[in-house]
Amino acid sequence: MSFLLALDQGTTSSRAIVFDTEGMIQGMGQREFPQHYPHPGWVEHDPMDLWSSQAGVISEALAQARIGPDQLAAVGIANQRETTLIWERATGTPVGPAIVWQDRRTAELCERLRARGVEPLFTQRTGLCLDPYFSGTKLAWMLEHHPDLRARAERGELAFGTVDSWLVWQLTQGQRHVTDPSNASRTLLFNLRTGDWDDDLLGILNIPRPLLPDLVPSQGVIGEVSHPLGPVGRPIAAILGDQQAALAGQVCFYPGMSKCTYGTGCFVLMNLGDDPRPSRHRLLTTAAWCLGAERSLVYALEGAVFIGGAVVQWLRDGLGLIRSSAEVEALATSVPDSGGVYFVPAFVGLGVPDWDPHASGTLIGIGRGTNAAHLARAALESIAFQVAEALHAMRADIEGSGFDLGELRVDGGASVNRTLMQFQADLLGVAVVRPAVTETTALGAALFAGLGAGLWRDETELEGVWRAAERFEPRLAPSQAQARLARWREAVERSKGWRH
Ligand code: G3P
Repeated sequence: MSFLLALDQGTTSSRAIVFDTEGMIQGMGQREFPQHYPHPGWVEHDPMDLWSSQAGVISEALAQARIGPDQLAAVGIANQRETTLIWERATGTPVGPAIVWQDRRTAELCERLRARGVEPLFTQRTGLCLDPYFSGTKLAWMLEHHPDLRARAERGELAFGTVDSWLVWQLTQGQRHVTDPSNASRTLLFNLRTGDWDDDLLGILNIPRPLLPDLVPSQGVIGEVSHPLGPVGRPIAAILGDQQAALAGQVCFYPGMSKCTYGTGCFVLMNLGDDPRPSRHRLLTTAAWCLGAERSLVYALEGAVFIGGAVVQWLRDGLGLIRSSAEVEALATSVPDSGGVYFVPAFVGLGVPDWDPHASGTLIGIGRGTNAAHLARAALESIAFQVAEALHAMRADIEGSGFDLGELRVDGGASVNRTLMQFQADLLGVAVVRPAVTETTALGAALFAGLGAGLWRDETELEGVWRAAERFEPRLAPSQAQARLARWREAVERSKGWRH
């Protein structure tokens, strides 16, 4: 029997999951690693922590599945996106910390670039906007602040990568320096239409091309694992940014099909097929994947919400209102509604559709009768409001395309919260569906690795592994949903521009 190993390198933990060819989990290992906040707004990871935590869980997953590495048909990688690393080609030594996607240090650089009038060019070529979220300005910042790095980069001594590139480099012991379009399309350097790095954009950000990884399809064998901490000799047959991997794990293979992953942040993606249509509502257009050198790119629209489940963590760790995240549902449902409280969790600014790095967390509508349960309810509702706004913007973007949203497929930690999922369906006016296997990020990487290793002929054969577990139908009258969303929007407007 053949098994597939997915490496899911996320923002707070590294996981390895063994799947069988029915898409069922057979073994898992998970390890958290430290987060570093050296200055307000800065978020860093130690690149060696990313690798060692990821390598460390491989043997745990194999042991739990009771299989040896030789029973793996292939390895697939899904990774936190945009997080930016540079290392030495000769030694594999990182030149400094990884700058994490949440890091806001390049807000000023983004503003300088905007003042030069180049944002429309970036948006037209990459589908992104000038926000510190993306890798390009993080890489430019590293080169600007460490002058010796630029000279070394120009001499070809250094390698830039997102986390996928770093893991492949480690697993192949420096044999391969690659990335795939789903990750490359988050850098501000990748041209969505040509499917290649864009020299004009590299020029504007002053990034030497020798730094960049080679582009390979998201699926297909790109090398063999040779590092002794990995399954030596097994093929690496898929690389995908984690959110695109979740889109694949939800088998959203047709235009209009959409998923939302409720993690630290929430990421809504809609399959766009082969049409990289620009958003008219400040969403991102991104590469979903490329299924082989002879296949064209598949695109997606994305709504990136920076703070999702993290708002519940804040209730737990910041306020001490609950002892565990699971307690939030009971507290929130101990009141019939939020009592008019709105909570905009703009802790790290706002992503879609506002893109305001200066917005701050805002609680409004507090009265003498407000209690902890109202705050918990407002916090949960804030997750659903943000996702609903992203989905409504998507619907507006695809108007006239013939695509049909139909339902929203959900996964990630907070998707087990039934109160949240019901409110999500109420706000959207479409069904919200949770699958039996909610480890969809890892599943997507595993399925594509299986495709790459030839276990399946094409993606249509993968549809059978997806099964719905629970479905939430909208119950709220559309007029009431609209009224709640309108009030939410007022609260968001008040949170903007607060931080200077
Ligand atoms: O764009 C950031 C995203 O890839 C992070 O995902 O699951 O690591 O929080 P996650």
